Amino acid sequence: MAGVLEGKVALVTGGNSGIGLATAREFHANGAKVVIAGRNQDTLDEAVHQMGANVLAVQADVSRLSDIDHLMARAHEAFGNLDILFINAGVFKGASLEEVDEQAFDEMLHANFKGAYFTIQKALPLLNHPASVIFNGSVNALTGINDSSLYTANKGAVHALVRALAAELIDRGIRVNTIAIGPTATNLLSRSGSSPEILQAQDVARISRSPIKRLGHPEEVAKVALFLASDASSFVVGSEIAADGGWLLNIV
Ligand SMILES: NC(=O)c1ccc[n+]([C@@H]2O[C@H](COP(=O)([O-])OP(=O)(O)OC[C@H]3O[C@@H](n4cnc5c(N)ncnc54)[C@H](OP(=O)(O)O)[C@@H]3O)[C@@H](O)[C@H]2O)c1
Repeated sequence: MAGVLEGKVALVTGGNSGIGLATAREFHANGAKVVIAGRNQDTLDEAVHQMGANVLAVQADVSRLSDIDHLMARAHEAFGNLDILFINAGVFKGASLEEVDEQAFDEMLHANFKGAYFTIQKALPLLNHPASVIFNGSVNALTGINDSSLYTANKGAVHALVRALAAELIDRGIRVNTIAIGPTATNLLSRSGSSPEILQAQDVARISRSPIKRLGHPEEVAKVALFLASDASSFVVGSEIAADGGWLLNIV
């Protein structure tokens, strides 16, 4: 049976790890040709090796505009225009307000927001009509969480951007939506440089705060991305769909 994305072309930033990799796999398993982008050439190569045909990996740091230009040129050369864009690349580092210096501020803002902004801007000439653009958002953008002001503000900017672009681009047949993702088991936190003890404490806190009492699996988020990528979501525009184990519920 043909997959729901048969004949479509998808680009996933951060498609070499965690949620992005699971989503690239899901799109590919459903028939799409997939372009993945990331910084680490080894994990890019490994992802291509695992998925097989109709996958292109492009090394690109989305905080550099020249890399995004290169990414779009390679994607177009390989597979033509895009039907699906998952803007997923991102980094996290927990820190209190006093701990954030200018370098940390710029690094996170450039990866999480500047990268997201210019990825959609530079993909625009390639996007088919119709097309689906999905941004990787976070429950952080919608709740108050200690020691995450910088990340939370980054993701808040992404959520606001989605609302503005959903309105701006729908006339061109481009649907823009966000997934408000809750705590998910990936390498995101362990890459932050925190000690094993802090990482362990963060996971315990994330799980106990979650109504579902566990972390999400990247594959569970990928299923939501598949819905937003497919024609099944043709009337869904500018939405924040939660994949969060109930994190955003007001439980009394
Ligand atoms: N895990 C969670 O609990 C959670 C919750 C809400 C939202 N999110 C969001 O989900 C997204 C994916 O994170 P993840 O949890 O799957 O973590 P992950 O496994 O660490 O994946 C992060 C991905 O982003 C890529 N990336 C980071 N900075 C980049 C840059 N400047 N240029 C290009 N690629 C870059 C990484 O590529 P390289 O490996 O090549 O550096 C990697 O593929 C992030 O936007 C994150 O904020 C995660």
